[in-house]
Amino acid sequence: MIKFPFPYLTTGTIVHGFGRGSKELNCPTANLDASSIENLPVEIDEGVYFGWAQFLTNNNNELYKLVASVGTNPFYKCKVKTLEAHLMHNFETDFYGEKLKIVLLGEIRKMTSFKDANELAMAIQNDIVKAHHELDSDQSREYLNHPYFKN
Ligand SMILES: Cc1cc2nc3c(=O)[nH]c(=O)nc-3n(C[C@H](O)[C@H](O)[C@H](O)COP(=O)(O)O)c2cc1C
Repeated sequence: MIKFPFPYLTTGTIVHGFGRGSKELNCPTANLDASSIENLPVEIDEGVYFGWAQFLTNNNNELYKLVASVGTNPFYKCKVKTLEAHLMHNFETDFYGEKLKIVLLGEIRKMTSFKDANELAMAIQNDIVKAHHELDSDQSREYLNHPYFKN
């Protein structure tokens, strides 16, 4: 169900993170620059969200399912709030420097800390399953035709 105040629309450039996503969590993430957070309401909860993403810069109009975290990554005790998106597609290459348009459609859970990285990795796999389910709904698929995604 997509409920008010969603959708949230934002844009960001993919920057280098700490490299933990692929190695430790078995989940490659696109770390977005600060502008992606600045476009979101300041009161947004530190949480995990589902939505759609589109590249702005590589002549690829495709829309990708995404699951994203917004927050300070309490498990890693970061200080700065970041948006980190996992695009639910197998890509051959990295996308550093590319811009992404993102529409967040709903929250899956609050961001939290875990006993170990394995528990976080399992929670993320669960998030991915839930995001697939949400994004397969007719209501979510309507956003594939959103004017924001017309390049
Ligand atoms: C779907 C998803 C859920 C996440 N949930 C949490 C969380 O609950 N707690 C947390 O500390 N970090 C969470 N993260 C953020 C990860 O800690 C972060 O993406 C990871 O450390 C990789 O960062 P790096 O690319 O800078 O190495 C989540 C990330 C994703 C993509």
